[in-house]
Amino acid sequence: MLRRLHPQQPLCFSFTAANQAWAEAQMTKFPEGRQASAIIPLLWRAQEQEGWLTRPAIERVAEMLDMAYMRALEVASFYFMFQLQPVGSMAHFQICGTTTCMICGAEDLVAVCREKIAAKPHEISPDGKFSWEEVECLGACANAPMAQVGKDYYEDLTAARLGEIIDEIAAGQIPEPGPQNGRFAAEPLAGLTSLTAHAVGREALNASVGLASVQGDTLKRIDGSELPLTTPWLISASQMPASNPAATMGPASLAKARDGGPDKLTKVKGIGPKLQELLFSMGFFHFDQIASWDASQVAWVDENLDGFKGRASRDDWVAQACSLSGLNVGGVE
Ligand code: FES
Repeated sequence: MLRRLHPQQPLCFSFTAANQAWAEAQMTKFPEGRQASAIIPLLWRAQEQEGWLTRPAIERVAEMLDMAYMRALEVASFYFMFQLQPVGSMAHFQICGTTTCMICGAEDLVAVCREKIAAKPHEISPDGKFSWEEVECLGACANAPMAQVGKDYYEDLTAARLGEIIDEIAAGQIPEPGPQNGRFAAEPLAGLTSLTAHAVGREALNASVGLASVQGDTLKRIDGSELPLTTPWLISASQMPASNPAATMGPASLAKARDGGPDKLTKVKGIGPKLQELLFSMGFFHFDQIASWDASQVAWVDENLDGFKGRASRDDWVAQACSLSGLNVGGVE
């Protein structure tokens, strides 16, 4: 498909102060002279800020990264995650039309979009809320047919269910993403035939859907509630332990779980089996331990969750652990 810049463009673009700080922090992830490697996150942030990717935004990002504008345009026009024209204010539906999805009913989904949103792809619905397009394989072929909305996948769709999803979003709801036919993930339609023990005791939603549901990712846009991008690699050695002792003080840990065994920390939304293992290895086994963390201890945990940095504050583990352990927030001595 030919992807071109929209004929009508705004005169200028600038990141908001918070987004500018975030973008500059992204650029520090890469060695001096390699800042162009930050092109995708910066273009994405610009799109999240504006709703679509304008020419002045691409030019601004190219300028920040010291790249030729043409190079930035090549990236923006190659990936269809970047919207080169205005999209619906609430949701842009990307319907996968590649082989598996087509065989399983993608054309019916496109018909729903034509009927409920607009006759043509990239046309905005009369109420301004929606737009749609057909895209190439989104990598969820085992759950065909499917569509991407915002950052979420809606899988195992039928025309009727897609129509409901559009109506629910129009009514201000956020439909639960993931498989729409009751499947947990991409297991066989008739149920598990092997590794059946895996199904025992698992959460109702798979980890990806669970987290997306908590965050309302489908409709979430940059709204100031995001954590700033932390750049611990910029802190010099002299600034680290000695000058900031609070940052080095972790919460009290246990050598092993108390009698009765560890609590099921995966009951805390945002903690999956891997994160639970990591917490156990750090000496945190019980809800009341987590519930007692103060702000500096949460910050310490956030920094020391290898591979999961920032999760403790992002998902407010303390409040969740308080309710799971029957304690009131702030009531732990
Ligand atoms: S063919 Fe649709 S997700 Fe792969």
